[in-house]
Amino acid sequence: MTSSAELLKLTNELHSKVSRLHQHVQENSLKWTSFDIASEWEVPLPHSLQTVREEAIEATEELHALLLGPSSYFMRLLDPTVLIYSCLQAIHRFHIAEKLELDEEISYGELADRCGIKTTHLRRLLRLAISYHIFKEPTKNAVSHSAISRLIKENPDYDSWIGLVCEEMIPASVHYVSALEKWRGDDDPAHTGWAMANNVETSLFEAIGTNPVRAARFASAMTALNSTPTLLPVHLVQDLPWTAESCPRTVVDIGGSQGAIGQILLTNFPQITKVVVQDLPEVLRGAKIPESLQSKLELMEYDFFTEQKVKGADVYFFRSILHDWPDHKAIEILRNQVSALSTGSSIILNEMCLPDPGTVSMSQEQHIRSYDLRMTQSFSGTERDSEDWRALIANVDPRLRVLEIRNSPGSLLSVIQIVMQ
Ligand SMILES: C[S@@+](CC[C@H](N)C(=O)[O-])C[C@H]1O[C@@H](n2cnc3c(N)ncnc32)[C@H](O)[C@@H]1O
Repeated sequence: MTSSAELLKLTNELHSKVSRLHQHVQENSLKWTSFDIASEWEVPLPHSLQTVREEAIEATEELHALLLGPSSYFMRLLDPTVLIYSCLQAIHRFHIAEKLELDEEISYGELADRCGIKTTHLRRLLRLAISYHIFKEPTKNAVSHSAISRLIKENPDYDSWIGLVCEEMIPASVHYVSALEKWRGDDDPAHTGWAMANNVETSLFEAIGTNPVRAARFASAMTALNSTPTLLPVHLVQDLPWTAESCPRTVVDIGGSQGAIGQILLTNFPQITKVVVQDLPEVLRGAKIPESLQSKLELMEYDFFTEQKVKGADVYFFRSILHDWPDHKAIEILRNQVSALSTGSSIILNEMCLPDPGTVSMSQEQHIRSYDLRMTQSFSGTERDSEDWRALIANVDPRLRVLEIRNSPGSLLSVIQIVMQ
């Protein structure tokens, strides 16, 4: 049993952490964010206070769970949170955020007409969304934007992320257990919850590779994902073991989508003379490279299940690629690079390195474990811990060795440096 004193202890901890945040905001004449349409997205906090904020969030979550108690906490896992996905899918499918101007307050009926759906359904969907701060109902039966709906309207990458999650990944989750029952978890990328949801026996990446609409949405969704604090490329820049002297000249970014990370590498490491971004043709099609980087950034169609065609580059770089694949496929992808490596070349992975269970906070644990499950449900992929990484690399080629695994606080991804002995 938890003593009620535990509740007070958590509340006091929370109070002291929030007081530190408040003091910083006051001293620097900042404003804390809100859900009002005009709010900033983030409060700029130094690193030490970002940790304080994380700890405060932890305390609120623990307090919330303890106040609810096991029965109510459990019931809330099933209802109502999961239904927000229907609201978000409708917002994406019917372009609801796009159809409402930022300064407008209009009736549900008018917005429903603009979106081509029945008023009763739009109202039902938006009223649940509003209870999660998505849109507002400032006066009865009238709707306006909130900070979140404005984010969706103004940033198409966020809309793509909603589309990818609600139209590919949630159906994959719903069908995952049946897929597991049917194919017994055989690690075939064509035997996933996603395949079962779509009534096919192909992988999600095959669908992306042959469908320009899906490919564009996937690439755009990756941009949104990369803008979440724990996945910001700034962590990669910080964790790469490159000094002015040791910085590579040539980098191949394999599965580099539309070159966003390639551009960041070129901008932050001026010693790099060339980044080759390789991906599937449908994904590369929409890439837009700024004029100033065009001479240094090359887009190249390449299927990583074939032998690497760029030989002797200094670095072969993979970010969030191998977690999409089961071990036998990840080994195949890496083996396809081995013949391209020359003396001094290295492979750098920017992937999650799972912590041991129970060594991070509960909400971090929830985050990390759900990523792992999502990779399995949609791709037959997997997240890996340091032992898994070392075993995988040893299986690719006995001459390859993991030199270092770096992870800065606040980053979900590690930098794993692999060299040929
Ligand atoms: C999870 S995304 C990561 C994208 C990018 N590295 C990033 O961090 O934003 C996986 C990428 O692998 C690419 N991909 C999937 N199958 C591929 C294949 N057979 N050959 C090359 N790229 C592939 C996808 O198109 C996608 O861009």
